[in-house]
This record gives sequence, structure tokens and C-alpha cells, in this order.
Amino acid sequence: MNVYTTVAEMRQQVHAWKKEGLTIGLVPTMGYLHEGHASLIERARKENDKVIVSVFVNPTQFGPNEDLAAYPRDFKRDSALCEKLGTDAIFHPEPEEMYQNACTAVTMSVLNETLCGKSRPVHFGGVCTVVSKLFHISGADRAYFGQKDAQQLAIVRKMVKDLNFDIEIVGCPIVREADGLAKSSRNVYLNEEERKAALCLSRAVKKGQELIHLGISAEEVLAPMRQIIEAEPLAKIDYVSMVDAENMQYVDHVESDVLVAMAVYVGKTRLIDNFSFHV
Ligand code: PAJ
Repeated sequence: MNVYTTVAEMRQQVHAWKKEGLTIGLVPTMGYLHEGHASLIERARKENDKVIVSVFVNPTQFGPNEDLAAYPRDFKRDSALCEKLGTDAIFHPEPEEMYQNACTAVTMSVLNETLCGKSRPVHFGGVCTVVSKLFHISGADRAYFGQKDAQQLAIVRKMVKDLNFDIEIVGCPIVREADGLAKSSRNVYLNEEERKAALCLSRAVKKGQELIHLGISAEEVLAPMRQIIEAEPLAKIDYVSMVDAENMQYVDHVESDVLVAMAVYVGKTRLIDNFSFHV
């Protein structure tokens, strides 16, 4: 497995693979890898000749008061895990390599105006821009994204369609801890008490899944979910919402495929979870 830190080196490898007619799967990450990321890498390993994992904490998707500086990093551990999973190359650039006086960026509308996009106004523009760059640099045939970040997945799908990227986006299910908490690099921020409190998210997801059916109103699903979270003293709701699965617009009733998504502060840590319902 090789680690490339420059675009030029990564491209050289990609060109060599393409010349041989090999297919490439890309798994974009910000590192501090866990079993959620591993599931994406394993899937990519099965479906492509070559697998590239990018490890890049992308500064442009963090707002001014967010956790960019504190974001957990452990490249040694990440590269050992990638190697174990049969990754062919890691792309691990410094921010200066990715952004040199950049004047161009990808913007998005509609899909980024609800849920996390509403609470994090610069976030999805930054994601779209870096993901576009990673798609170009990797020349990937397929890219793998987790349903854990459901709005991100919907936005990337829409961007690929709108901008005619020649890449297949593969969505992968949420990987959870044994007790239900969705795996996240940010879970390391939680102390023992907060870790227990964080279970209110997956408990609310389970409640929502039990209640949801075709025709039910959003509030009939969301109110009992909110109650579970509000009963937890360490938790504070950012949002618990229901949106159309494709365009991310709020819906009043379940009449099409929907996404039920939440962001909740547990102490200072912002956690997300969700489930989809197909009619
Ligand atoms: P990061 O948070 O590192 O996540 C990388 C990928 O792993 C995303 O597609 C995310 O949905 C997936 N993932 C995270 N936790 C998961 C879980 N518990 N189960 C399944 N998949 C999970 O998302 C980003 O990085 C960045 O925004 C990025 C796309 C790399 C752009 O910078």
C-alpha cells in the first residue's frame, strides 16, 4: 500500500492503473477510522480492482466555531487499518496541497437548506468542493458514502447528477456499536456519562421506526422521538425532522420515501443519527 501526499503523485498512480484498464473505488474520509469507514472500504474492495482511501480533514467544511483544530487524528492507526483491509493507496494531502489560493468552489442550493445545512451554513459547500476535487484526483469509477451522513449522501448524488460526473455513488448502511450508538469519529469526545446519554439518539431512531407508516403525519413520528431525547438531561436537540428522501425538503406526512434525521448535542458534542423509510 502506498501513501501519496501530493496530487501529482496520486495522479501518476491513477494513470498507471487506468492504462491497465483497472477499475478504481474511492472512499473519502477525514480519518480517525472506525468500523463505519471499514465497512465502506470492504465494500469498495469487493467491487473494484483498486481501492483509494482519502484521509483529509477538510478545513473548508468546518464553520468558524466548529471543531476543525480539535478534530481527532491518528494517521498511523488509520494507515494500519487501511493496509489490513486491502487498500491499494491512501491519499493524504496537507491543506496547502489541496487549496492554493483557490477562487473556485462548488455551491449547492435547496438540498443544503434544511437539517444539518441549516445549522452549518458553510458545511455542504465545503463538502461538495472537496468531494469534486477528490473525484477528479482519484479518477474513481465508484465512490462510497455512508447513510450515517444521509444529507451528505443525497447532496453528493445530486451534485453528481447536476454536474455530470462520470462516477457511481454507492450508499452504505449505518454501522452501530453493540448498544446502538452510531459509530462516529466524534464519539471519542464523549465522557462516560455522555456516552450513556448518547444512547437517546438510537433509542429515538428505534421509536421512529416502530411508529412510521404510509400516510402518518410527521409530528406523530417526531414528537415521541423528541420526548425520548428531551428526557435525557445531558442532551439538547438541534433538530429532529422529516424530509423527502431525495430533495431534503420538509414533509408533513409520509407520502413518498422519507428521511427522518436528527442532530443532538450531548454535552458539547454534536451527534447525528437517522433512518430512511421507503413507501
Ligand atoms: P467522515 O466523517 O470521516 O466520514 C467518511 C465516510 O464514512 C462518510 O461517507 C460517512 O457517512 C461514513 N461513515 C461515518 N460513520 C459511519 C457509520 N457509523 N456507518 C457507516 N458509514 C459511516 O463524511 C466525511 O468524512 C467528509 O464529509 C468527507 C465526505 C470525507 C468530505 O470531507
